[in-house]
Amino acid sequence: MHINELIEKKKHGEALTEKEIQDWIEAYVQGEVPDYQVSALLMAIYFQGLDDQETYFLTKALLESGDQVDLGEIKKKKVDKHSTGGVGDTISLVLGPLLAARGLAFAKMSGRGLGHTGGTLDKLEAIDGFSVEESKEDFIDQVNRIGLAIVGQTANITPGDKKLYSLRDATETVDQSSLIAASIISKKMAIESDALILDVKMGEGAFMKNLEEAQELAEKLVDLGGKFGRKVMAVISSMEEPLSKAIGNLIEVQEAIKVLQGKGSEDLRDLALSLGAKLLVLTGEEEDEDRARQELLGEITSGHALEKFAAMVKAQGGQLTPEEILEKSLSPKIYTIRAREDGWLEKIHALSLGEGARRLGAGRLSMEDVIDPGAGLYLHKKVGDPVKKGEPILDLYGKNVEDLEDVIQDLEGALAYSKSPVEKPTLIYREVKA
Ligand code: URA
Ligand code: CA
Repeated sequence: MHINELIEKKKHGEALTEKEIQDWIEAYVQGEVPDYQVSALLMAIYFQGLDDQETYFLTKALLESGDQVDLGEIKKKKVDKHSTGGVGDTISLVLGPLLAARGLAFAKMSGRGLGHTGGTLDKLEAIDGFSVEESKEDFIDQVNRIGLAIVGQTANITPGDKKLYSLRDATETVDQSSLIAASIISKKMAIESDALILDVKMGEGAFMKNLEEAQELAEKLVDLGGKFGRKVMAVISSMEEPLSKAIGNLIEVQEAIKVLQGKGSEDLRDLALSLGAKLLVLTGEEEDEDRARQELLGEITSGHALEKFAAMVKAQGGQLTPEEILEKSLSPKIYTIRAREDGWLEKIHALSLGEGARRLGAGRLSMEDVIDPGAGLYLHKKVGDPVKKGEPILDLYGKNVEDLEDVIQDLEGALAYSKSPVEKPTLIYREVKA
């Protein structure tokens, strides 16, 4: 394969063959093709696109660039979920315990925060002693015992995607639906599961800014998953405002615990119940989604889901009970943004809040940065809520924050008010099935 020929073909909008794509990824992972040529190919793909066949070939090549994790020793039905990334998206910490309580296996390999979006591993590490590193044997044993484990990726999973993703990040070629779909599905197919739900985030705080783009990505994801023989469906959910009222690490873990206690952010609870109910139907455990939802709600009311969360924390070395995690102090509350006027909260710009939390110390600006687990934001109100002038809207937590005035100003700018009632945003716009 000569990469120049691939660039030339794609430049003119011709389709690449399976062998060409396979050779390209193999050579790139081996370091036999330079970044500048792959950059040119990516930009050609960005403008010309990949057809369904090419997207499948790319996914397969990325998947086969690394190891695949066989979870055959897990006897319960294995369910998995993936979100395209958002702000205050604490779903895994609620959904995992719910599904484990219902008797399924939630054996999750999660990631770290990226840009303005949070990462489940960073959140869990806010619990003293919690380890996201486990041997495969311990991981499987834990899932067999309690139905729940959330760890980082240890195996050499999709090195091709890792390399390509960094290059896409540096060449502004991330937001192309075939490239995103291949990247996500290659990673998910590397880990065995009986059913997978993909939560495609749409809105200002997400990669996909409108319904058309989100629909296109959702269809590609479902189509690709199906080609690998996986039971998969997608939902398109809102990321106009943050999902949870809490944004950060410890603060999001605390919010997840509150939801598991039957309190806390309603949107976080509702989306977790919806995704869980859809997964129960997808695996064939339940026939009716409403009934499945009621069952999962029962796992909250009975305290069973919270027990699963506590068991996971203990199994992974965490030294605190859920009650102790709730009592743990956040970083100092350094400012409270109050309502500017009487009326209704009209907008909470998710991207700006994610960025704000990051600048308070909840995320990284470079990969070497150390996170402040106690930093973050807490929203007292969400879009559609009535507000009174002077009422607290957003609390800021952090230590030694640089440019605090600037951060406050940006966060003030992220909130908009209306004199007339505002409708609550839709949580799930659509679902896409095979
Ligand atoms: N998430 C991924 O894993 N890959 C992408 O390309 C975009 C979002
Ligand atoms: Ca139960």
